Amino acid sequence: LSAMTMGYADYGGGPASAHVHHGTDVSQLTGPVDRTPDVAANLVARKERFDIPGRGPMDGYTLNHTSPGPRIVVRQGELVQVTLHNENVADGITLHWHGVDVPNAEDGVAGVTQDAVRPGQSYVYRFVAKKPGTYWYHSHQVSHEQVQKGLYGVLVVQPTASDVIAAVHTYDKIRTVNGEYGERRVQAPGTTARVRLINTDNGPMAVWVDGAPYKVLAVDGTDVNAPTEVRGKAVLVTAGGRIDLEVPTTTAVRIGLGGGPTTLVIGTGDAPKGTEPRDRVDLLSYGTPKPLGFDPAKATRVFRYDIGRHFGFFDGKPGLWWTINGHQYPDVPMFVVSEGDVVRMTIKNTSGQVHPMHLHGHHVVVLSRNGVRATGSPWWTDSLNVEDKETYDIAFVADNPGIWMDHCHNLPHAAQGLVTHLMYT
Ligand code: C2O
Ligand code: CU
Repeated sequence: LSAMTMGYADYGGGPASAHVHHGTDVSQLTGPVDRTPDVAANLVARKERFDIPGRGPMDGYTLNHTSPGPRIVVRQGELVQVTLHNENVADGITLHWHGVDVPNAEDGVAGVTQDAVRPGQSYVYRFVAKKPGTYWYHSHQVSHEQVQKGLYGVLVVQPTASDVIAAVHTYDKIRTVNGEYGERRVQAPGTTARVRLINTDNGPMAVWVDGAPYKVLAVDGTDVNAPTEVRGKAVLVTAGGRIDLEVPTTTAVRIGLGGGPTTLVIGTGDAPKGTEPRDRVDLLSYGTPKPLGFDPAKATRVFRYDIGRHFGFFDGKPGLWWTINGHQYPDVPMFVVSEGDVVRMTIKNTSGQVHPMHLHGHHVVVLSRNGVRATGSPWWTDSLNVEDKETYDIAFVADNPGIWMDHCHNLPHAAQGLVTHLMYT
């Protein structure tokens, strides 16, 4: 289990131990080519049977024979190079760096920023890890199937040695943490630990700490300003989203992961086992305000993003299908911006179900929910849980040119057409 406590020492990457490919033809690369990578990794994707510790064998997909794939842990400012090789995944694969605002060509969306990587082919991703935080990567080809069956991994920029990384993933109804089932135990040095929780599933997950107060340190890779102590409440991790908690580790503590047998215990000895608290931390009012760095009142583009449902045909099949502003995929409008625009968007969900909305290449700040204005720390997000009958006002600066997917991260919903794009002119 030592692999669950991650310091620089055991991640197998970084300048000292990086496996740098000499002889990579930089003229073939789309990412930064002006220097050699600080961290380089080879990931080989396979369709195969692998083991879920605590549970047993599973048929799915692996990267370097494991699911989740190798953890990629880097320092801020490092140039990351990942060579993806597809050994035998017939549908083809890609890697998308969820939450990392990479240059568009590195975004890994099959059919948008690249072609899927076919069996026998390789593809090289290169990007600079500009912002510290908790991220993950996953295939973006037939992703509702490939991600669920294992083609994903963790990416953390600038962790400290006492951090605990916990990627929660459900394989065929088997919930795991870091690919393992049941009560998992990890040690962390020091008196507090930063627990980096990653929800790689299709639905939201409540997390909480049994028997101890905690703080929410970060949301989707952005630190919360002046977080306060939380007791007896859970915090929701949006599908695709990440939440970093600070937990005391002077005695053993248990992190509840949405109920069920899989939990994470930090420390030795007994950890109390509670039930999911009914109260939730509301990120709209959590922490302390601070300047956003731009003025949402000076919006140069204003969009609405109405999520609904209507009867129609999709892929020739009749049914109730998702709509965006009344249109059904692929006949959905794109959001067109220019570089430098201050963009405001109202996301309104009347579809009857919750949708975790994920915008690639950008982080957005939440201004209000159901007309109630944000009063806490700026709530920067890339994966926003929009419940049925909820309306969110968000804003962001269009500062990353390209074509960016903006879709529901309940991946079967995306496959059913809850997808549009943000496009720069
Ligand atoms: Cu995490 Cu478009 O995906
Ligand atoms: Cu959805």
